[in-house]
Amino acid sequence: MRMLVIGGAGFMGSNFVRYMLSRYRDIEVLVYDKLTYAGRLENLHDVSNDPRFSFVRADVCNEEMLQKVVEKFQPDVVVNFAAETHVDRSINEPAPFLKTNVFGVFTLLEVARKKDIELLVHISTDEVYGDLREGGSATEDWPFRPSSPYSASKAAGDLFCQAYWRTYRIPVRIVRPCNNYGPYQHPEKLIPKTIIRALHNMPIPLYGGGQQVRDWLYVEDFAEALDTVIRRGSNGEAYNIPGFNEKKNIEVVEAVLRILGKSTSLIKVVEDRPGHDYRYSMKGDKILSLGWKPKTPWLDGLRKTIDWYVSNEWWWRPLLSDDYFKKDVPWR
Ligand SMILES: NC(=O)c1ccc[n+]([C@@H]2O[C@H](COP(=O)([O-])OP(=O)(O)OC[C@H]3O[C@@H](n4cnc5c(N)ncnc54)[C@H](O)[C@@H]3O)[C@@H](O)[C@H]2O)c1
Repeated sequence: MRMLVIGGAGFMGSNFVRYMLSRYRDIEVLVYDKLTYAGRLENLHDVSNDPRFSFVRADVCNEEMLQKVVEKFQPDVVVNFAAETHVDRSINEPAPFLKTNVFGVFTLLEVARKKDIELLVHISTDEVYGDLREGGSATEDWPFRPSSPYSASKAAGDLFCQAYWRTYRIPVRIVRPCNNYGPYQHPEKLIPKTIIRALHNMPIPLYGGGQQVRDWLYVEDFAEALDTVIRRGSNGEAYNIPGFNEKKNIEVVEAVLRILGKSTSLIKVVEDRPGHDYRYSMKGDKILSLGWKPKTPWLDGLRKTIDWYVSNEWWWRPLLSDDYFKKDVPWR
């Protein structure tokens, strides 16, 4: 199988590439990534010498380049992870989110249309459904009610995929994951940030008391779910990928501190983020019916993640800006 992975140098993409190369012998993977602040070749350091792996640095919005790469590589499947992903950054500066998450997806769909791509799998998010404060869990046909510029841009990309299936029969499948956690996640996100600050005995800023509920899935389990959609999913369908593991943010932070043997007095409540969604929750009947379910228990996954950050300071240290420990910069 020849697989083109766009945005494959980020957190989830690099874990997916690692998973696929270790699971299948007969596979070739080409990662196509712009290497923004969130994408790094260090995320792929252990596969970079594998003869089945190659890399090209380019922008998903560059149609000409994307066409050339598709013509030359002739992928059997294209997977799109490329996105601006940090909600707080989207609130401060929404424009790059529109560019990559909407125009980038449109560009890719146009290339799929012109070059007859055999299968395109687009990574959307549970955030397209918005806040499920009132209870219940979203099915794939739940209305979209995105709250932040990030989730609005992801919803637009998702809708473009749906429109291109309906109008042009572009063979696209949409995957909507919940919050992923695991190795190689940027230190701006909740779990890595908590680990790194706790290791330095620094205060851990927590939005509005940490009452928000998120569903957490170990990133390797997500890779297996995505592989399942590629092998057994149907074109034109969307698949929720829940972790069946809803936790309040405060519970997540406390669990990290407990494992690290640190005091909860490090937690510092800060003013809530504007428009902060209270709860995300999805049903997973469609992906369960394809034979997938999460394998990694929450505390096992969290311990593995913490061990990885403790042992891999070389990876995260260069990502810390000078004011990393000063600012109460929050997270997704
Ligand atoms: N991490 C989560 O918990 C989560 C949950 C739900 C959905 N998602 C979605 O999954 C996907 C991957 O998320 P992640 O956490 O791995 O993100 P990430 O920020 O770690 O990685 C994004 C990758 O996309 C690349 N990229 C950004 N703009 C690009 C462009 N214009 N052209 C080419 N490459 C570009 C970056 O260099 C980086 O390698 C995203 O689409 C995100 O919206 C993530």
